[in-house]
Amino acid sequence: MTLQNKAVMDYAEEAIIHTYNRFPVVLDHGDGVYLYDIEGKKYLDFAAGIAVCALGYNVPEYNEALKAQIDKVIHVSNLYYTTPMAEAAHLLTAASGLKKVFFTNSGTEAIEGAIKLARKYAWTRDNQSTDHEIIAMNHSFHGRSIGALSVTGNPHYQEAFKPLIDKVVFADFNDLEDVVSKINDKTCAIIMETIQGEGGIYPADPEFLRAVRRICDERDILLILMTSAKALGCGVPIGAFVAGEKAASALTAGDHGSTYGGNPLATAAACAVFDLFEKKQVVANVCEVGDYLGQKLNALAEKYSCIKEVRGMGLIRGMEFDRPVATIVARCIKRGLLIISAGTNIIRFVPPLVIGREHVDEMTAVLESVLAELSE
Ligand SMILES: Cc1ncc(COP(=O)(O)O)c(C=O)c1O
Repeated sequence: MTLQNKAVMDYAEEAIIHTYNRFPVVLDHGDGVYLYDIEGKKYLDFAAGIAVCALGYNVPEYNEALKAQIDKVIHVSNLYYTTPMAEAAHLLTAASGLKKVFFTNSGTEAIEGAIKLARKYAWTRDNQSTDHEIIAMNHSFHGRSIGALSVTGNPHYQEAFKPLIDKVVFADFNDLEDVVSKINDKTCAIIMETIQGEGGIYPADPEFLRAVRRICDERDILLILMTSAKALGCGVPIGAFVAGEKAASALTAGDHGSTYGGNPLATAAACAVFDLFEKKQVVANVCEVGDYLGQKLNALAEKYSCIKEVRGMGLIRGMEFDRPVATIVARCIKRGLLIISAGTNIIRFVPPLVIGREHVDEMTAVLESVLAELSE
C-alpha cells in the first residue's frame, strides 16, 4: 500500500466508527465503468457501490440534470410540492403498475415505511387490533434499522440489538409449504426479496412468487415486494415504497414522514435515471450482457473445482466457493478489479448495468488469473 493511500485511511479510521472492514483503497473519481484512486490507479468496477451506480460514472446527462437542479433548489421539505417529486412518483407508478409512492432516503427506510403501512392497514381493517404478525424469510436482508433488522432472517445481524419488533415469524424462502404453514388470521404482511442478495444471490422461484401473491390476494395480506433504493438515484440517496391504491390509503396525513424524503435533488436524480435507462436501453443490456456474464462464470466453474455453484440472473450473479473468498477478492483488487462478497464463501457480481461484453472479458481474465494462482 502506498503512503498517500495509507495516510487517508489512517486519518479516516481515527474519526469514523469502525462498522465496516474497508478495502485498502481510497477512491477519488470515476469514469464509465472504472474508478480511480487518489494516486491514479485504475479499477474495473464490478461492485457499483453495492449495486447502486447502474449507469457507471461521470455520465454527462446525469451530471447535467443534477447540476441544473442544484442551481434551482436542493431541498424544500415535504410541506410543499415540487415538479421532480411529482414526476419521479409517476415514473415509479408507471414502472411498477402500482398507484402511490412514498419517498425515503434509503432501502432500510423504504422497508420501515412498508412495515408501518402493513400494520396500519391491518389495524384499520381489524378494529384497531395490534396483534398482527409479519412473515419474513430466512437468510433475507432488509437493512439495519430496528424495524428492518426485525424482518432480516439472519440472527448474526440481530442478536446484539434485541429486543427487536415483536410478532415476526420466519419461513424458508422458495418453500411455499413452509410459508403457508406460518400464515394465520393475524398475518398482515409477507416480506421478501425477489433475489436474496446479501443472503447469497438466491433468486425467488417464479412459481413460488406467483403462489405467494395469490395467497396474499385471497387473504388480504400485504406482500411487501415493491420497495426500492440503490440504483433508483444511481448514487444520490433515495428510496421508495410503492403500493396499490387500497393499501396506500391506509396511511393518512401525519402517519409517516421524512424531512428529506423525495427532495428535489434526489427526485431529479431518479427522473434522470429513468430517462437514461430508456435512452441507453439499460434493460436490454442487462439481458444481453447478463447472459454473457452467466456463460463466462459457468465456464470458470467447469474449470475450477473450488467453485461450487453459479447463481443469479442478469447482472446480479453469485459464485459460491468451497472456501472463504476474502483472499480472492483482495487479490483481484490488487490487480485493479473491484469485486465484493456476499457472506463468507460467495463472490457477488453487481457491476454497473451499462457494462459491455469487453468488461466481462476483462473481469473474468483477472478473476481467472487469481484462481489459477490459488490452484497452483
Ligand atoms: C434487499 C435489501 N433491502 C434493504 C437494504 C438496505 O438498504 P440501505 O442500505 O439503502 O438502507 C439492502 C442493502 O443492501 C438490500 O440489499
